[in-house]
Amino acid sequence: MNAKQQLPVRKLGPTSLQVSAIGMGCMPLSIQGRPPEDDAIRTIHAAIEHGVTFFDTADAYCLDEHDVGHNERLLAKALAGRQDVTIATKGGTTRPGGEWKRNGRPSHLKAACEASLKALNRDVIELYQLHAPDPDVPFEESVGALAELQREGKIVHVGLSNVSVAQLDLARTICSIVSVQNRMNLFDRSSADVLKRCDELGIAFLPYSPLNGMSKARELGRRDEVADIASRHGVSPQRVALAWLLSLSPNMLPIPGASKSESIADSSAAALLRLSEDEIDTLSALG
Ligand SMILES: NC(=O)c1ccc[n+]([C@@H]2O[C@H](COP(=O)([O-])OP(=O)(O)OC[C@H]3O[C@@H](n4cnc5c(N)ncnc54)[C@H](OP(=O)(O)O)[C@@H]3O)[C@@H](O)[C@H]2O)c1
Repeated sequence: MNAKQQLPVRKLGPTSLQVSAIGMGCMPLSIQGRPPEDDAIRTIHAAIEHGVTFFDTADAYCLDEHDVGHNERLLAKALAGRQDVTIATKGGTTRPGGEWKRNGRPSHLKAACEASLKALNRDVIELYQLHAPDPDVPFEESVGALAELQREGKIVHVGLSNVSVAQLDLARTICSIVSVQNRMNLFDRSSADVLKRCDELGIAFLPYSPLNGMSKARELGRRDEVADIASRHGVSPQRVALAWLLSLSPNMLPIPGASKSESIADSSAAALLRLSEDEIDTLSALG
């Protein structure tokens, strides 16, 4: 299977990696309400056909503690043999009984990384992200574990998720950080300061829940401002929301989630949508 469509690419922060300007968040393929495996694989293949070359996953994208690595195994199966895609995974979150918990202990992160390498069926992970700081573990110790994994050659690049500017700056004293994955969308700008710092440093910013999350993604068109711009361009409100994110910074790499092929096919085309300055201002005023 070859990519049928080419999408604009962006550099992943200070790395030499070029990835599609719109990536795919793979969480909906593995958590509660997930599709059957054949459908999930079809969705990943649809992403490839539409030019997506960047996939975000995590060991914790699964149902519970008995299913850890489900999303990584799915990607490994769907993308077997492909060298032209970049997979970013995460460690530091656990799923006891289906709940979301944090574990940033170095021993856990090292074991999690080994398990991710196995699940992804790779010798090395291109981008390994700390899923979230653990309030019970000094942040430096969690980042230190990732730095050690990098020195051991198990991961190429280190990324962070759910961090503040202070945590980003602290992590940078321990190792080179290439990306930050925080929540950002039309209605959530709580990480605007982190994006600003990423821009100062040339670090990639991966906004998660870029469509306002799985449960609200389809409601974007209820806002008149979004619906009007979408109808002017003859595109979906979701595409407008992603194009707006892309307009904010050259370091921006949105990772919209999708369980259906149609969703990622539509979202990926946001990389080709140019909004006017007026439209960007209107959308920016929504936050
Ligand atoms: N680091 C973290 O703590 C963290 C937290 C949350 C998420 N994430 C990552 O970020 C990714 C994205 O976030 P998210 O999944 O929470 O929320 P999201 O991307 O805001 O929304 C995902 C939902 O949007 C729907 N969708 C996608 N494109 C669409 C389109 N063009 N038209 C209509 N609906 C569309 C999908 O529906 P269908 O399912 O029906 O296709 C999907 O369920 C996740 O998959 C995960 O990789 C990271």
